[in-house]
Amino acid sequence: MAVDLSVTIGSLTLRNPLIAASGCFGYGTEYGDVVDLASLGGVAGMLNAIGLQGIGVHRFIAEKMPELRARGAAVFVNICGTTLQEYVELAKILSDVDGIAALELNISCPNIKEGGITFGCSVHGTADVVRAVRAATTLPVIPKLTPNVTDISAIARAAEDAGADAVSLVNTFLAMAIDVETRRPRLSNIVGGLSGPAIRPIAVRMVYECRQAIRIPIIGMGGIATTADALEFIIAGASAVQVGTANFADPLIWPKLLKGLEAYLERHRIARISELTGTIDTTARDKEWISS
Ligand SMILES: Cc1cc2nc3c(=O)[nH]c(=O)nc-3n(C[C@H](O)[C@H](O)[C@H](O)COP(=O)(O)O)c2cc1C
Repeated sequence: MAVDLSVTIGSLTLRNPLIAASGCFGYGTEYGDVVDLASLGGVAGMLNAIGLQGIGVHRFIAEKMPELRARGAAVFVNICGTTLQEYVELAKILSDVDGIAALELNISCPNIKEGGITFGCSVHGTADVVRAVRAATTLPVIPKLTPNVTDISAIARAAEDAGADAVSLVNTFLAMAIDVETRRPRLSNIVGGLSGPAIRPIAVRMVYECRQAIRIPIIGMGGIATTADALEFIIAGASAVQVGTANFADPLIWPKLLKGLEAYLERHRIARISELTGTIDTTARDKEWISS
């Protein structure tokens, strides 16, 4: 049985729902010789105005985009700024570049002191950034939401109302660890971002909550390391998924996940993966089942 793995995110059609998460896949080019970039649904390269690692927008366009274009990658550029104006400037510059599929707005990074997560932690801040970038570009605009809020679905709704084409969720959870012998924090910033398998159930819950609150597509992530993990997000309501931390442990994870998704669809006789999004069955279970 031939299955169709393609998904649509607003006006974009991706060949499959697997996207390399920002910050966990370099600029994409670093993996070009080990991973067929054209076999992925997308690559979310990071680009930060200031405050984080990055080569800057002009060098990214000159040095990285030609190779990403040549390798046939669907490029999601993850942009981060400390002011509204920085997001707008980055969006304008990137709008004129050939081969960019979408802008992912990082309004959720825990490692910069100003801007970034400050926007993403309030409905007004989120709406302001999305509205400003929406007015500055014709590219699909995909804000990436932070899980470090009380009600992520309210933030997602604000993003949708402000003109977002989709939302990505989640970024990392604020966390800390202490060396008890020295009593010093293990991270130089004292707090940092937690990613990987530990966050997955919380991230899945957030995707599920947002699916009830908005109509635009959701790109889900947080601790995906297996096919079943990716499927959980899709069944909870994600149209596509990103894989971050697991790529560090196994850069060859992509073909395994793709094969796994195909096998699942075949086994369940589902023709298109897009049919699976949000199909979670929450009908009440009979008492006997629950108590056993
Ligand atoms: C080392 C590292 C760097 C990251 N850098 C970025 C970044 O620049 N922009 C961004 O939006 N998210 C960044 N993230 C967050 C990931 O893209 C992703 O949202 C998060 O790690 C959850 O997915 P995972 O558990 O699969 O890693 C980073 C995560 C890690 C671990």
